Parts: sequence; C-alpha cells; structure tokens
Amino acid sequence: MVPPPRSGRHDGSAFIRACRSQSVPHVPVWFMRQAGRSLPEYRAERGAGSILDAIAQPELVAKLTRQPVTRYNTDAAIFFSDIVVPAAAIGFGVDVVPGVGPVVSRPFTSKDDLQRLRPLEPEIDTPYVIEAVRILAEELPVPLIGFAGGPFTVASYLVEGGPSRNFTRVKALMHGEPGLWHTLIDRLTDLALASLRSQLDAGADAVQVFDSWAGILTPRHYEELVLPATRRLFAELAVSHPGTPTILFGVGTGELLPLMATAGSGVVGVDWRVPLDDARRRVGPGIALQGNLDPALCLSTWPVAAAETREVLLRAGTTPGYIFNLGHGVLPETDPTILEEVVRLVHAEGLAGVETPT
Ligand code: CP3
Repeated sequence: MVPPPRSGRHDGSAFIRACRSQSVPHVPVWFMRQAGRSLPEYRAERGAGSILDAIAQPELVAKLTRQPVTRYNTDAAIFFSDIVVPAAAIGFGVDVVPGVGPVVSRPFTSKDDLQRLRPLEPEIDTPYVIEAVRILAEELPVPLIGFAGGPFTVASYLVEGGPSRNFTRVKALMHGEPGLWHTLIDRLTDLALASLRSQLDAGADAVQVFDSWAGILTPRHYEELVLPATRRLFAELAVSHPGTPTILFGVGTGELLPLMATAGSGVVGVDWRVPLDDARRRVGPGIALQGNLDPALCLSTWPVAAAETREVLLRAGTTPGYIFNLGHGVLPETDPTILEEVVRLVHAEGLAGVETPT
C-alpha cells in the first residue's frame, strides 16, 4: 500500500515551502558544505583521522551538522556525512583522504567487482547514520536535508579509483561495456535509495542527490546512460515517501538542465555558470531552483559578495520556487563572516515567492 503523503513538522518552513514552489515568509538559504573546514568550530571539534571515523560518531555528527545553522542562521541543515559512506559501509574499500577526496583501494574494472556491491542494510551497515538523524530530527530548529551521491558521481569514484579530471576510465566503461555499466549504476541507485530511505525514516525532512560530476557528460549520453537510473531513484522515493521534497544537483550541468528537470525531482540545483533567469527557461515551469552564487566570490570583499548576491536575487525573480545557495560547496578558505552577511542580505532582500503583507 502506498503511504499517505508525509506531513512533517517543518512543512510551514521557508525551505520546505520553497522546495514545493509555494509562497514563503522569506527566501530560504543554506550552503552546500556549510559544515566543514571553513568553520573554526569545526576544525576545533573534528580532530585528525579519516572523516569516515567522524561520520560514525552520532553525537559528533549532530554537533557538526548544527554548527553552521547556529553560526549562519541558515534555513536548513545538511546532514554531516559523505557520498561514499554507503559504498564504504558494504566493504567496497573506500576511504576519504584529507585534501584529496575519496580513494578506492581496488577500483571497479569488471563484472567480478559486482560481488563487492551487495545491497545496503542500513540498520546493520550504517546504524550510526540512523542514530545521528534521529538525534537531529529531535532537536534541530530547521529542516534536515539527508543526501546521497548520484549514480554517475559515485560510479566515477569507484571506477576511476579517486578524484578525476577527465573521467576517462568511467567513460570507457559506460561506452565500451554498456551492459555492465547499467548493472553497476542500478546497484548504486539501489544503494542510494536504501540510504535515503533510512535517513527519511529516521526523520530527515528532504533529500538532495549530489550527482556533482554529471556535467562532464554530453546531454545525449546523460540521457541514455544516467537519467534512467536517476528517474528510477526519484520515482521509487515518491512511492515509499510521497510528498518528500527532493533536490537534484550537479556542477557544470547547464546543458543538462532540461533533462535534469525530467528526473522527477521538485528542485534542481544550478551552478554559477548559468544565470537563474536563463536556468528557469531551461527547466520550465513547476520546478524550483536552488543556487547559484559562485563560491569563489565569497573569497573577495564584502561589497563584491553583496553586489553579486543581489545579482543572483534579481535573476531569481519573484515567482515562488527558489532557494538561495552557492553554485557549489563553500570553499575551505572562506571567511565565515561573509556568509553570515550573505544570509542576512538574502533574508532581508530576497523576493522570490515572498508573501507581501495585505
Ligand atoms: O556541510 C556539508 O555539506 C557537510 C556534509 C558533506 C560532506 N561531503 C562532508 C565532507 C556532504 C554533503 C558531502 C558530499 C560530497 N562528498 C560530495 C558531493 C558534494 C560536492 O562537493 O559536489 C562529494 C563529491 C564528496 C566526496 C568528497 N569528500 C570530496 C571531494 C572531499 C574533499 C576532499 C578534501 O579534503 O578536500 C570529501 C571530504 C569531505 N567531506 C570533507 C567534508 C567536510 C572535508 C573535510 C574533512 O576531511 O574534515
């Protein structure tokens, strides 16, 4: 039986309403990578060692997730975890190396490697994720965004063995062995789905799928080789968790936006390369947008960051369905006081979907 649409305690919040393209009391804002190295309180708390060790400590995760909400007054919290957690938890052999990113000891090269991609059993494999989400759902004043890596992006790490510039190995697999590719991303889609469902069941209010590197693909190849799995992910979520706000995000995806708009997600993220009025035309009506200040602009002076924030707000227009964010994650060298000011400015001046007093 299909469960009834969720009604959550944050349904009236600016963030959840904007995800649903409803009117808002103010334009909501949060930042990708709002937790992490740009925050002195994060550096003080996190300690040395792999981030995967930190992620397995629920009390610490709850604290790190809350830090930026307190500091910046953001309208949502992003769960502190990483996109490789499910693959690491089923024993694929992934670590996250500081300053590098995910590194895989034995990359995926052939069908024998499928044996290392068994289904995720969240209660057994990632109980710490469930526990941390439960703590946060109890005590956070704003909605909690759960997340998973998109199928192409997670596949790229497993196949390339680590961060990549040209994605040659994963492209060779996609095009050279399409049957194996489809099996691989189907497994990764199931992994993401199981993880997202466990986060929603534990109390997450919305989810974002980070298919960060999908923009490296041509629209035709994205449509043939990645979009079907992405559609299945959102379709299956809509069956198990109807009404849950979802966001699909990638970098350099300007040419993919019309396709991403058909994935079944109510919100599509936009990086800084495409102005939001143009992005709006590319995705069509009925889809909310999230973005898109260039994170590098937060490294300049406040007058520059303020002018550029106002430009983003102008391009966002006045219709409902807009969440302010950066076009990609906060850069580690960002001065947090600039982001505090960005939040203040967006709350004070943003007009998209804002109810006017009658
Ligand atoms: O505020 C937040 O967004 C925190 C939660 C979060 C992390 N990773 C914590 C993290 C989220 C949502 C992610 C997602 C993630 N991880 C993505 C998708 C988002 C994006 O940036 O496109 C990707 C591609 C990864 C893989 C990954 N993990 C990379 C590329 C890195 C950076 C490596 C480095 O050290 O420069 C990581 C490590 C990582 N994940 C850190 C944090 C806070 C770095 C700091 C640390 O080790 O303490």
